[in-house]
Amino acid sequence: MSPRPCSDARVGRPEEKVRAVGDRVLSVLGRQRWLDRPGYRLEHALGFALAACGGAGERVSNLLHGTWLGHPLHPLVVALPSGAVAATVALDVAAVLPGHASGLREASRLSLGVGILASLAAATTGVNDWQHTKEQSRRVGLVHGALNAVVTGLYVLSWCDRRRGRHVRGVAASTVGYGITAASGYLGASLVYRSGVGVDQSGARWDTGEWTPLLAEAALDAGQPQRVEADGVGLVLLRDGDDDVLAVGELCPHLGAPMVDGWMDRGQLVCPWHGSRFDAVTGQVVRGPATAPLPCYQTRIRAGTIEVRPGGRRAFGQRQEWADER
Ligand code: FES
Repeated sequence: MSPRPCSDARVGRPEEKVRAVGDRVLSVLGRQRWLDRPGYRLEHALGFALAACGGAGERVSNLLHGTWLGHPLHPLVVALPSGAVAATVALDVAAVLPGHASGLREASRLSLGVGILASLAAATTGVNDWQHTKEQSRRVGLVHGALNAVVTGLYVLSWCDRRRGRHVRGVAASTVGYGITAASGYLGASLVYRSGVGVDQSGARWDTGEWTPLLAEAALDAGQPQRVEADGVGLVLLRDGDDDVLAVGELCPHLGAPMVDGWMDRGQLVCPWHGSRFDAVTGQVVRGPATAPLPCYQTRIRAGTIEVRPGGRRAFGQRQEWADER
């Protein structure tokens, strides 16, 4: 008998079947274009609400994105409802055993209440990140959010039932809700680990090498960034005023927008897709939705040529020292 091809040999394994089901679910959800209309309506409603709050809206949005943290806040917050409701389920099981049933029931209701509040916090951070996604990610994200809304509704129902003494019904509602979070969690994880939502998308770093001539200074016009390559890594060169030249990574850390289409505004580099702002000197995020900094490189001009080297630009206080090296 001739040996079976490698791919055939795997067919039928339990893990292969699980993966196939997951792939199929994601593929079907990603094709549901009818979800785009409610999705865009929700995005516009959020945009209007934040814009109506002016500077406060921007600060709240930055806070929810995790701009201050250096990576998205949402994955951190989702651990809270999961933990609290897992404790509820464990306490419900313990309450069945002979002993301190009423105390355990009270503790489980308290824990569920914490889970409900934490679910609302997770939903707030999640929807704030979701509003900038596109196409398949947006559709999968919308279903993820809808499932979580159903789950939170079940938790609220459960909490009310427990409070009114309908303990068995309350336990049933929270247990079903906790089961649905597994499906919802799968969708949420696929957004991060497959689609890269929330992952730093700035691509490869140029981190070894010395001063490298990349472009004639005369070829770089004000207001017209240019893409260049150093050891196969894409960089964008642009002017900051008359004398200074900046070199940054070619892709926005948020969702990979081409920074060659970005522009300078009051000492900040602006992403062309969702308006994230990066400090032109340090690359740190000034305004989200990006949370990771933009890679920055050192530049100097020698004999009419722009030279760049890895190592990151220096903070304001060091700028003069760096200029002295020129
Ligand atoms: S790609 Fe979204 S802010 Fe840059």
